[in-house]
Amino acid sequence: MATVAERIFSGVQPTGNLHLGNYLGAIKRFVELQKDRECIYCVVDLHAITVWQDPDELRRHTREVTAAFIACGIDPKSNIVFNQSQVSGHAELGWILNCVARMGWLNRMTQFKEKAGKDRENVSVGLFTYPTLMAADILLYRATHVPVGEDQKQHLELTRDIAQKFNTDFAPNIAANGHGDGYFPLTEPLIAGPATRVMSLRDGAKKMSKSEPSDFSRINLTDDADAIANKVRRAKTDPEPLPSELEGMKGRPEADNLVGIFAALSDTTKEAVLRDFGGAQFSAFKAALVELSVSKLGPIGAEMQRLMGDPASIDAILKDGAERARVIADQTIRDVKDIVGMVRS
Ligand code: TYM
Repeated sequence: MATVAERIFSGVQPTGNLHLGNYLGAIKRFVELQKDRECIYCVVDLHAITVWQDPDELRRHTREVTAAFIACGIDPKSNIVFNQSQVSGHAELGWILNCVARMGWLNRMTQFKEKAGKDRENVSVGLFTYPTLMAADILLYRATHVPVGEDQKQHLELTRDIAQKFNTDFAPNIAANGHGDGYFPLTEPLIAGPATRVMSLRDGAKKMSKSEPSDFSRINLTDDADAIANKVRRAKTDPEPLPSELEGMKGRPEADNLVGIFAALSDTTKEAVLRDFGGAQFSAFKAALVELSVSKLGPIGAEMQRLMGDPASIDAILKDGAERARVIADQTIRDVKDIVGMVRS
């Protein structure tokens, strides 16, 4: 299965309100991948500050994402778990890649357009160059595969473009340094399964997101059983019973979303869920979804809370992870300096 050359990298921003979308689209997949691959999972605090963060909250959220990784089942001993700012190579390579990426490429990023909205003149420069730092995160470890939700697809395409341009721009120096055709791999996104884009529980046209003002739009990983039950019961649906086949889900985004969530939480497909629930009213389906959600998420929330009670242990995990990440990162920075032509001692 795994070859030594395969390396997984992914990151999650410590911006609070970790939700079911983050879990199903990303963290749950991180856990599955650790079985047979070398994995590096990062709490991307440098990305978080592209929008102002309260310093105490940033610290708390950094520990909370780490706690979520571990509570969901990531083993920080056999994988690397750390926060980005502890490994200076991210910022260093980020700068070099800022000089490789083109303005036109970044101007096309839809996430920037969404986040900046009409206030483009007033957002941080960091928000604009966010995707080059993301490319640096991945390429610093020369990662071959990146598990993410659908919303990160464009950023991963940009990462490939940046890697390709770096490889082309410095081709003779790369060869001279003994690195064959391309120093950086053309990283593959891993976007798969029934919940790559979990939608808001209140509006099937909007993504479930940390920043949505209504807490009823999302299930947070720290929600207790009552909160989960309440949110699922109030989730928007339509008056029709569930169909027996996928075809019947067309034009029913809220129903499709809930079926996708059910399928992802129970490790099956939407088709299989519809085979079981076809013809059922939402009241019955929601009752089953509440039971499933509480049984899967309840223990995660409880374990996160337990881990958060001991911040020193979380910090020790991040320190150990950062030390191991630095070994890989420092080598890449040395190589990149040689390739680009920087004198180093
Ligand atoms: P972030 O912190 O917004 O989200 C973390 C992960 O959760 C996924 N996700 C979703 N998946 C399905 N449905 C949703 N509604 C949903 N909302 C979020 C995201 O796709 C992501 O995988 N830019 C990244 C963080 C990052 C990163 C990286 C990721 C920085 N450097 C390098 C991979 C590799 C982000 O903002 O994720």
